[in-house]
Amino acid sequence: MRAYELIQKKRDGGELTAGEISAILAGYVAGEIPDYQMSAFLMAVYFRGMSSRETADFTLAMVRSGETLDLGAIRGTKVDKHSTGGVGDKTSLVLIPLVAAAGAPVAKMSGRGLGHTGGTIDKLESIPGFRTQLDTRAFIDQVNRVGCAIVVATNELVPADKKLYALRDVTATVDSLPLIASSVMSKKIAGGSDAIVLDVKTGSGAFMKTLDGARELAQAMVGIGAQVGRRTTALITDMDQPLGRAVGNALEVAEAIETLRGDGPLDLRELCLELGAQMVTLAGVARSAGEGKDLLMKILDDGSALAKFAQLVDAQGGDRRVVDDSRRLPAAPVRIAVEAPSSGVVAAVDAQAVGLAAMGLGAGRATKDDRIDPAVGVVLVRKVGDPVRDGEPLADVHAPDRARAAEAGRRIQAAYRIAARAPAPRPLIHGVIT
Ligand code: URA
Repeated sequence: MRAYELIQKKRDGGELTAGEISAILAGYVAGEIPDYQMSAFLMAVYFRGMSSRETADFTLAMVRSGETLDLGAIRGTKVDKHSTGGVGDKTSLVLIPLVAAAGAPVAKMSGRGLGHTGGTIDKLESIPGFRTQLDTRAFIDQVNRVGCAIVVATNELVPADKKLYALRDVTATVDSLPLIASSVMSKKIAGGSDAIVLDVKTGSGAFMKTLDGARELAQAMVGIGAQVGRRTTALITDMDQPLGRAVGNALEVAEAIETLRGDGPLDLRELCLELGAQMVTLAGVARSAGEGKDLLMKILDDGSALAKFAQLVDAQGGDRRVVDDSRRLPAAPVRIAVEAPSSGVVAAVDAQAVGLAAMGLGAGRATKDDRIDPAVGVVLVRKVGDPVRDGEPLADVHAPDRARAAEAGRRIQAAYRIAARAPAPRPLIHGVIT
């Protein structure tokens, strides 16, 4: 089967067989199909889409490209979580210890930041000493001992996704429904958990900008989960403005700790409770999401979620003193306030623009070999619906130097829209797909 013919078939709107999908993916991973042909194929998929059968076959072919993890040695129903990517999205840092403290084991493999969106592994690595690479045995032992572990996905797990993602990133083919669905679900299936909760983002900071697109993506992923016997629930959640206030690695860790202490921004707390309620329900710890949410609220407020986080940090070699004193996290040398250019009410904060401003400061990578600066980022002082007067602060920029602080300040100011009246509030949760 020649790659040329498969590209042509997809370009002309044909439906590929399971064998054809397997052949193109295996050929690409083996280096027999070059990047330029795979790029053309991805663009054909971007424009022509894939049927649900093709998307499922593509996902399974991705899983077969590498190893799958056997979590059989972990007691209980293992539940995993994945976000399609957002700005200020530090939910995993809160959720994993929270759900583990409730009695649901979590063996989590996470990724690094992509484009304007952040990644859990980069955030955790801002804690001095924190190790994100554990071998499988240590990973499983820690989940049995502590109740949770968070590690960086190994190169052996879905190598097809690693190669494809890098290519999609530079060929404008990231925001394609079948490509996102297969990328996310292949990693979750290979990760070995029994049940999966998906946080599908929609809005200006998400890869799926529209609610209809996010709903279709959520349905596709839940459908793939059902086909392979993994109980999967998806929440469609808002990413039109950043989640919480902090954007940037150490700043987000500090905010996650505040939230684990029972404080923290309300949108972040609420989202963690909603996602966590689905996780503990799928794990059989609660009989319903309502019961799960009540249980998690108690755990958050009585200090057990924070204690579990401290245990997790300790188990992975991190400095657990950051839990009581976030001044031990890396701090940027320059801090400036971004002022409102006029008076009114904050009508919008463009999440993608904030993500790109944080990236410009060094909180994310422009190319895959860039080094992250864990200390830098942005803290939003005002969010959508907040009143503000001319000259009052909109946000604080934490920067490596004055020049980059000024540049980020200009971008953050442009990301804010100030109007005479507050807009109709957007819900945090747009829907649940089971
Ligand atoms: N997150 C993923 O893991 N893959 C995608 O394609 C997009 C978001």
